[in-house]
This record gives sequence, structure tokens and C-alpha cells, in this order.
Amino acid sequence: MLTDQLGRPLRDLRISVTDRCNLRCTYCMPAEVFGADYAFLPRAELLSFEEIERLARTFVDLGVRKLRLTGGEPTLRRDLPDLVARLARIEGVQDIAMTTNGLLLPRFADALRAAGLDRVTVSIDSLDPEVFGRMNGLGQHPQKVVDGIEAALTAGLGVKINTVVQRGVNDAGLRDLWLALRGLAPLRFIEFMDVGNHNGWNMDSVVPSGEVLARLGGEAGAAAFAPRAAGYRGEVATRHVDTAGHEVGLISSVTAPFCGDCSRARLSAVGALYTCLFAGGGTDLRAPLRAGASDAELRDLVAGVWAARSDRYSEERGEVTRAGTRPKVEMSHIGG
Ligand code: GTP
Ligand code: 5AD
Ligand code: SF4
Ligand code: SF4
Repeated sequence: MLTDQLGRPLRDLRISVTDRCNLRCTYCMPAEVFGADYAFLPRAELLSFEEIERLARTFVDLGVRKLRLTGGEPTLRRDLPDLVARLARIEGVQDIAMTTNGLLLPRFADALRAAGLDRVTVSIDSLDPEVFGRMNGLGQHPQKVVDGIEAALTAGLGVKINTVVQRGVNDAGLRDLWLALRGLAPLRFIEFMDVGNHNGWNMDSVVPSGEVLARLGGEAGAAAFAPRAAGYRGEVATRHVDTAGHEVGLISSVTAPFCGDCSRARLSAVGALYTCLFAGGGTDLRAPLRAGASDAELRDLVAGVWAARSDRYSEERGEVTRAGTRPKVEMSHIGG
């Protein structure tokens, strides 16, 4: 079995299908940077669906079992259900998920489900229109995201909800969000991370997951929840349930890094392979692909990159932050 320098297998592939988004979340694509004159990738630069399928098959040959579509916002990629259908036909793929802001799910959920998508993870940071409008950079109303969540459920997709927590920004509304949405799907609260180069991250803006859980429990605090075992090895969220069985997941990449089990590879929209969310650079797979590389050559190339991998950025963060930061790939290029 293919493993990296730290003994970690290659199990998940996260595929970014576009660098565009219909939101401008301040922690991901701040409007001041990603403005009207920002140069997004021209279409010819993007991997075609044929090319994505070819690379996905390469990764599945090497052990990948889970695929996740990301962006930017993946639903902005034209004819996305056609890509899902291609991926769903690959033998060995056990799970196809998509990370989305949910805005276009009322339009596309049925077609995506019919094409073979299993699950979506929908991001929503607050139910307070003023707070959410500010965080998404465009004044979009949270009800639009809730409509998307409901459309996904109606279509028969599995749903999880992701909330990024920033101190002094949306932390006051976490319990309201939890109480309002816990009946719909498991919620997961993500510690604000220092991804990309523009989000002004600092440790003071991180609310540690332990504090989040205590707040969700109200008067009872964290005692309102019981721990639940991990769903699978390498799961990024630690799970808890309330007395009614509603699930909350905590993604504590800052206070409790989970690099030890990290089996995720990331493919950017232009076909660069990244072996860590915080990588400074990737390996170009598009050039050899377009130059006519054989299946075996592509497999050897990817296997070589994975075998050499030693990334564990979240575990090293403390040291790196003290040493000064180096440039990192943008979240909108590899989709979180
Ligand atoms: P499931 O298959 O549903 O368990 O999905 P997942 O939790 O692997 O994927 P999802 O995209 O929902 O992950 C939630 C968030 O956790 C991401 O958007 C990131 O913010 C964070 N995350 C996921 N993978 C990693 C990782 O490898 N490293 C770090 N530091 N954060 C990650
Ligand atoms: N820290 C934590 N989570 C982030 N996301 C985007 N940027 C950050 C960040 N800086 C989340 C999105 C979405 C997923 C792709 O990652 O909100 O849920
Ligand atoms: Fe778009 Fe998601 Fe980034 Fe927000 S976090 S700007 S929705 S890609
Ligand atoms: Fe994996 Fe890098 Fe995240 Fe660690 S920081 S869990 S190695 S993607």
C-alpha cells in the first residue's frame, strides 16, 4: 500500500473545479482583494471534465476511496452534474461529496443527486442577517443558505453544516445557530485557520473548540453533550451529541491538530496536486497530462509525490508562526 513519509495512506481526493465564488467571505476571498478587477482563471486553464476524470482514476488506482468537489464555489462550474456522473462511474469510489455555500442548491440539488452525488457540506456562519451579510462580503441573507440546505435534504443528499467561528465576529450567535439548525443536519464548528495570505488571522480571533461546545450547551455548558466515537479513521471532526441525539462536530485544527491521520490530497482547478491545505506549492499534473502521459506515468508521478510527503502544518503552526509566515496556497484554489 502507498504511504507517505509518516505512514499515512492516500484515501481522499478533494477536487477544486473553479476558483470563482458567488460570495466574498472575509476569511477566504475578501472583497478588497477579490474585487471586480480580480483576474480569475480563464476557462482554458481549468482542467476539463475528461481531464479531471482521468486524474481521479489515477488517484483511485492508488487507494483513494472518497472524492470531494470544492472550489471556490463548485456549483458555479457549468454542467457540474456531468462531472459527478463521470466520477460516480469510477470503480472503487465509495463516496462523492461536495463542499458548497448552498446558494445554488435549490437549482441544482436534484440533478446532482441524480448524477450520483452522495453528500453535501453546506457552510453557514450565522443566522443573524447583519452578521452573515458582513461575513459573506456581499450582504447575502442566511435564509438563502437554509433554503439550499432544505433543497439538498429534499433531494435525498446527505447533509452536514459547517460554521467557521471567529471571536468577536460570529461567536455570540453560535447557540442560536445550533438551536435553529440542529434538527436539520449535524453541525460542525471550525476553528478559524490561517489559510491563504489575506485573512488577517491571529490567535486572538480563534475560539477554541472547547469553548464553542460550552457555549452551545447554554446553562449546562459542555455537560449538555456526550462524546460520540469517530465515524472513521482520520475524521477531522470530533463528535458530540445532545440528549435528543443531535450531533455537533468540532474541527480543531488550531488547538488539536489532526495531521497524524491526514490522508487527503488536493487537486486545484488547474491540475496542481497539493499534499497539504497549507502548502506553499503544488505539483503540476496538467502539463504531463496534456503532453500525453500514459496512465502508468501519471500513477508514478502521483505515487512519487505522495511517498515523499511529510506535511504536518497544523502541528507545526506554533513554530512557523513564531518564525514568520511563508506564502501559502489560497483557499479558493484548493477549497479548504
Ligand atoms: P467528511 O467526509 O464529511 O467527514 O468531510 P470532511 O470533514 O473531511 O470535509 P469538510 O470539507 O467538510 O471539512 C471541514 C473543514 O475542515 C474544511 O473545510 C476545512 O476547513 C477543515 N479541514 C478539512 N480537511 C482538513 C485538513 O486536512 N487540514 C486542516 N487543517 N483542516 C481541514
Ligand atoms: N478557517 C477555517 N475554515 C475556513 N473555511 C474557509 N476559510 C477558512 C478559514 N480561514 C471553510 C469554509 C467552508 C470550508 C471550505 O472551509 O467556511 O466551510
Ligand atoms: Fe466562497 Fe466558500 Fe470562500 Fe466563502 S468560504 S468565499 S463561500 S469559497
Ligand atoms: Fe493534513 Fe496539512 Fe491539514 Fe495537517 S495541516 S491535517 S497535513 S492538510
